[in-house]
Amino acid sequence: MAARHDGFRSIAGGIRWDLLPARLYERGKHLGAWNPRDIDFSRDREDFRHLDPAAQESFLRLAAGFAAGEEAVTLDLLPLVWTVAREGRLEEEMYLTIFLFEEAKHTEFFRRLLDALDVHDDLSGFHSPAYRTIFYEELPRAMHRLLADPSPEAQAEAAVTYNMVVEGVLAETGYYAWRRLLEPTGAMPGTLRGIAHIATDEARHIAYGVYLISRLVAEDDRIFDVVERRLNALMGPALGTFAADPPRDPAVQADILDFARRRFDARLNVIARARGRSVADIEGWAGGVFAEALGDNG
Ligand SMILES: [Fe+2]
Ligand SMILES: [Fe+2]
Repeated sequence: MAARHDGFRSIAGGIRWDLLPARLYERGKHLGAWNPRDIDFSRDREDFRHLDPAAQESFLRLAAGFAAGEEAVTLDLLPLVWTVAREGRLEEEMYLTIFLFEEAKHTEFFRRLLDALDVHDDLSGFHSPAYRTIFYEELPRAMHRLLADPSPEAQAEAAVTYNMVVEGVLAETGYYAWRRLLEPTGAMPGTLRGIAHIATDEARHIAYGVYLISRLVAEDDRIFDVVERRLNALMGPALGTFAADPPRDPAVQADILDFARRRFDARLNVIARARGRSVADIEGWAGGVFAEALGDNG
């Protein structure tokens, strides 16, 4: 594709404020404006110091997964931003600028938390082989492939990896689980506050991913097979990353899995509904259909 512009939407044609990405952009401008630096970790520091060594280790294992995961998605999003910009999808690129800013803040949040807890050791030893498969290999590979191959298939694989699996299964369920474990203890209030902000940001990120994949499926029905294949390939290592977590109360565990399944099924249903539809149909779904994908935090 030649590097030239044939016109500009801002002065001819306008910006589609009705599209889901433009709506997410609008939401992100205020909901995504929280500042990790404003979070007070002084109670967390005290609470952490009073945990027994096993509980400290569990906390750090989770923090090591989330912190590196947020760093990975910060580092690996740019090829997708470049891909949609190159296609002239202004609304999508505008939203992705906020998306990337939010991921940078999530990374900042975890580093500030670890600094406040006075944890300066290398925590990468907590990363399981399954975790490494997803975050050290599959995610960067799927995203950076776009620089050489921005085809719809590659875009679908990238969005399934990033939005459906890493954000939709791992981050969202992981944060939900962590909140469920921490909230009853009344401890670590700064950590909980940050996670609550991150969860609402992630819901918007995932909604964008579902929109993108739905658009790609509407453009070419064969993309649905690419989506299914990629999901099947990644689900094993994705679920394997949870296996290293500390054992939980079976009722809590069942609730967490149920949460993950409901969210995942709702999103896959949206994508399946895109089959046989036109791109204009998907663009018209900005409200109701994606509200489902946004979930409770929408
Ligand atoms: Fe994030
Ligand atoms: Fe995200």
